[in-house]
Amino acid sequence: MRSVSAEQWAAVDRYISELLVGEDPDLAAALDASRAAGFPPVNVAPNQGKLLHLLARIQGARHILEVGTLGGYSTIWLARALPTGGRLVTLEIDPRHAEVARANLERAGLLDRVILRVGRAVDSLAALADEGAGPFDLVFIDADKPSNPEYFRWAMRLTRPGSVIVVDNVVRHGAVVDPDSQDPAVVGTRRLNEIMAAERAVSVTEVQTVGSKGYDGFALALVLDD
Ligand code: SAH
Ligand code: DHB
Ligand code: MG
Repeated sequence: MRSVSAEQWAAVDRYISELLVGEDPDLAAALDASRAAGFPPVNVAPNQGKLLHLLARIQGARHILEVGTLGGYSTIWLARALPTGGRLVTLEIDPRHAEVARANLERAGLLDRVILRVGRAVDSLAALADEGAGPFDLVFIDADKPSNPEYFRWAMRLTRPGSVIVVDNVVRHGAVVDPDSQDPAVVGTRRLNEIMAAERAVSVTEVQTVGSKGYDGFALALVLDD
């Protein structure tokens, strides 16, 4: 097989994004602010952000849950998909990330529909369940990878048949196929996959991706009656 460089993946991502994605000043400012704050560049790529946005619109999502806010880049894409009166709850452990995200969401005019909860996501998820929040129509899981099994279990509790669950970073440069991996992110992802495979109330696929963020992939799950 002919090998293609990471530079080529990034060039194609730029081509796609410039021609089709339509990044605007508020998204660009969110990335600039994240960079200026020294955050790792692990926000979704622009074309993946738009994929999330389109999935939310296809789904007609009125209630969205995000686990892992960082600077709010993916949050902006998702919140822009909400209809009038729709709400997005996003969970973030790092107060500095939350602060920058809040400013980015405010600049984008989205703070009226986004609820930012600061704390360990497992605690926030338990609190949401206690409060009777949801059901969420779409859940985007993109925080610490070792906790993905737990986040998926909470997502199942906080959704309804017909909801969509998306999990970022399930391929990790292909490391996911190594059953002997000691990397907690890989162990967590493999456990997540086993749980999803055993869960009858969900139909799942995963797609590998390349691009400006390297070689990775995402899981897409539909919650079923059961
Ligand atoms: N979804 C964002 C990127 C998120 S990066 C985007 O695409 O723009 C992952 C985020 O999860 C980081 O901000 C990190 O601080 C947060 N995080 C890590 N562990 C967490 C935990 N236990 N609870 C909540 N958030 C956590
Ligand atoms: C990492 C986290 C992400 O959410 C991502 O999309 C890429 C990398 C990381 O923690 O390394
Ligand atoms: Mg991610």
